[in-house]
Amino acid sequence: MLTVRLSRPLSQLRGRTLSFYSRENEKRRTLLCHSAPLVPVSRRTYADAVDVVEPVGSRAVLLTGCDSGFGFSLAKHLHSKGFLVFAGCLTKDTGGDGVKELDSLRSDRLQTIQLNVCNSQEVERAVEVVRSSLENPEKGMWGLVNNAGISTFGEVEFTSMETYKEVAEVNLWGTVRTTKFFLPLIRRAKGRVVNISSMLGRMANPARSPYCITKFGVEAFSDCLRYEMLPLGVKVCVVEPGNFIAATSLYSPERIQSIANRMWEELPEVVRQDYGRKYFDEKIAKMESYCNSGSTDTTPVINDVTHALTSPTPYTRYHPMDYYWWLRMQVMTHLPGALSDRLYIR
Ligand SMILES: NC(=O)c1ccc[n+]([C@@H]2O[C@H](COP(=O)([O-])OP(=O)(O)OC[C@H]3O[C@@H](n4cnc5c(N)ncnc54)[C@H](OP(=O)(O)O)[C@@H]3O)[C@@H](O)[C@H]2O)c1
Repeated sequence: MLTVRLSRPLSQLRGRTLSFYSRENEKRRTLLCHSAPLVPVSRRTYADAVDVVEPVGSRAVLLTGCDSGFGFSLAKHLHSKGFLVFAGCLTKDTGGDGVKELDSLRSDRLQTIQLNVCNSQEVERAVEVVRSSLENPEKGMWGLVNNAGISTFGEVEFTSMETYKEVAEVNLWGTVRTTKFFLPLIRRAKGRVVNISSMLGRMANPARSPYCITKFGVEAFSDCLRYEMLPLGVKVCVVEPGNFIAATSLYSPERIQSIANRMWEELPEVVRQDYGRKYFDEKIAKMESYCNSGSTDTTPVINDVTHALTSPTPYTRYHPMDYYWWLRMQVMTHLPGALSDRLYIR
């Protein structure tokens, strides 16, 4: 019974109200819930106070992964807010569409930079570009947003070691590498590091281990860095988006199919035989429906990153996600495993 209740939209529950993001009218609803331990204090959960900010001036920020998705929108949004934006793009040298569009703004406050976060030389070069563009490099750079990421899916037995390493190289080691290179500039400005993790950096999910382990790593890295930077005046925030796949380029139906085809071809014979094609296809279909069910509006993520960069008191963690995933995350992270497994996994 409880399983049914918790997997049902909260709006259908009698006598309960919560702080949630309404897809219907694209506004946040700040309401109270009667069950005290699960009450989300809306202002700690959502960054709806983006107007109460420190003056931006021409503070410099570097974002990674600006070719598409959150990074692309963020680059334009932060530029519109008055930031001096360095947009790291994977496809600057090859003339990607996102790069062309950002360059077409022809602004002296927005510069695209070739930046593959897996390549130390490119990251080092990006530091030099930023340093040489700053009016006073001794004063440093205000913000670093580690956004670049890739994703994949597949149960543990379906996932090759190469896939695990490939995803970690971008999501985890790319974040660590870029942060280490830019920290001297950020420290000088007593600035901000904002890491884009995921709700899957807080709670694991079946068939998502190659992605989850990298985002759990980003969370651990961010916490360690936050503790270390606290006495130095640098603030470190984590943004944990829910499902926005329908709004970004993280997955497409074609990409899911191509991952699936490759995965099946590369499966060890024993795994293929034991699980069978029917089971495999069902899992792929489940992944496809997850991708189609996400939010199509990235505004909550953009607002949260903006808040993290501009608020005098940014939050440690931001949770831009719909209320179903928010509740599921609370259950998965705060209740005993025996209970949360029963509610959501079994
Ligand atoms: N969308 C969601 O539902 C969701 C949910 C939770 C967390 N996130 C996280 O949000 C971040 C942004 O993802 P997104 O959803 O906006 O997807 P996206 O549209 O695919 O954006 C990711 C960006 O990272 C770039 N990138 C990939 N490998 C890179 C590398 N080695 N170096 C530098 N850039 C690289 C991609 O470039 P190309 O376009 O050229 O490949 C792309 O521009 C990721 O960290 C992702 O894990 C997304």
